Amino acid sequence: MTPLELAWELGHEEVLIIQDPLSGLRAVIAIHDTTLGPAAGGTRMRIYPSLDDAVVDALRLSRAMTYKAVMAGVPRGGGKGVIVGDPMRDKTRLLLSTYAKGVERLGGRFHTGPDMGIEAGDVAVMARFTEHVSHSAPWATLDSADLTALGVLEAIRATARFLGRNLADLHVAIQGLGQVGSRLARLLAAEKARLTVADLEPERVEQAVAELGASRVDPEAVYDTEADVFSPNAAGGILNDATIPRLRCRAVVGAANEQLAFPRHGDSLHARGILFGPDYVVNAGGLLSLLLEVGETDEEAVIQRVRGIGGTLSDLLDRASTQGVPPHRLADRIVEERLSAARRAHRGSDVG
Ligand code: PHE
Repeated sequence: MTPLELAWELGHEEVLIIQDPLSGLRAVIAIHDTTLGPAAGGTRMRIYPSLDDAVVDALRLSRAMTYKAVMAGVPRGGGKGVIVGDPMRDKTRLLLSTYAKGVERLGGRFHTGPDMGIEAGDVAVMARFTEHVSHSAPWATLDSADLTALGVLEAIRATARFLGRNLADLHVAIQGLGQVGSRLARLLAAEKARLTVADLEPERVEQAVAELGASRVDPEAVYDTEADVFSPNAAGGILNDATIPRLRCRAVVGAANEQLAFPRHGDSLHARGILFGPDYVVNAGGLLSLLLEVGETDEEAVIQRVRGIGGTLSDLLDRASTQGVPPHRLADRIVEERLSAARRAHRGSDVG
C-alpha cells in the first residue's frame, strides 16, 4: 500500500508536506481526526530510509494520538509531526524555526510538543515562532517527559498488581534510556524494582548502571532478557514476528508509540500468554501535560490524571481477561465506539 492509500485507509483529514531548501527542512504533519478537538501530537526527528517511510510514520503515529486522546478523555484530536534528519547533526535553529512557522500557518489546527529526537529546548526555540507548541508550563515542576514516565510507572504498577506482584519484587527490562526511558528507570529504581537496561548509546547505559544499580544488556539481546516486564521506550514496531518468539517476560508495558508492527502481533502476544499494555493507553502522560500548559487544569490535577493511567489500564486488563480477548483489541473497540458516538453527535449538531 502506498502512503497515500494508507492515508485514505486510516481516514486522515489532512496531510501536509513542508519543504525548505534553505534550512534543509523536510517535514510531514499528519492530522488524523479533529472530531474531539484540534489535533495534538509531538514532533519527532529521525533518519528515515525514504520520505515515504516518514509519511507512513506520521500517518500511523497521528492515528495513535487520536486513540490516545479518546482513551485519556482529552478533548483533542490526533496529529503528529515528523522531521526527516539526524537530530544530532541536522537540528539547527533555522530548521526548527522554519518548521515552527509551518505549524503556525495551520492556525491552531495542530498543537505540537516534544517526541523522539525533539526535546524541551527545541520546543522552546519553536515557541518563538508559534504559540501552538508546548513542553512544560512555566509554573510546572514536571515537564511532559516526566509526566509520560510517571504514567508508564503507574501502568507497570497496575500490571504488577494484575500479576499478583508489586514493584519492589519486579524485574523490568527497559529498552531505551532517552527522554522517557531514563526518567522511568529512575522512578522504578526509587520503587526498588530490579532493572536491566539497554540503549544504543553506551554512556546512557553506564549512567544507569552507576546511578541506579541497573544491569546492562546489549540492545539486540534485550528481547531475550528474562524479566517480569519488558518496557519498550524507544522505536516503534519492535513487537513483530522476529522478536515476539524471543520474549521471556510476562508483560510488555512501555512508552514507545506504535509498538506492535501490526495489530495481529498483539494477538501473538496474547497467544503466548504475555500481557500487553496498549501503548496509547500507557503513554498518555505527555498528551495530558498539554492540559497543564494551555491552562485547562492545574498541576496537581494533571498529576492525578496521569496517575489515573494505572486505573485505566487495570480496568482494561480486567475486562479483557473476563472477556478472553487481547487488551489491545478491547482498547481499540472502546475508542472506536466513543469516536463514532462523537461523530454522530457532531453530525447531529451540524444538521440541527
Ligand atoms: N509526544 C507525545 C506523545 O507521543 C505527545 C505530546 C504532545 C507531548 C504535545 C507534549 C506535547 O504522546
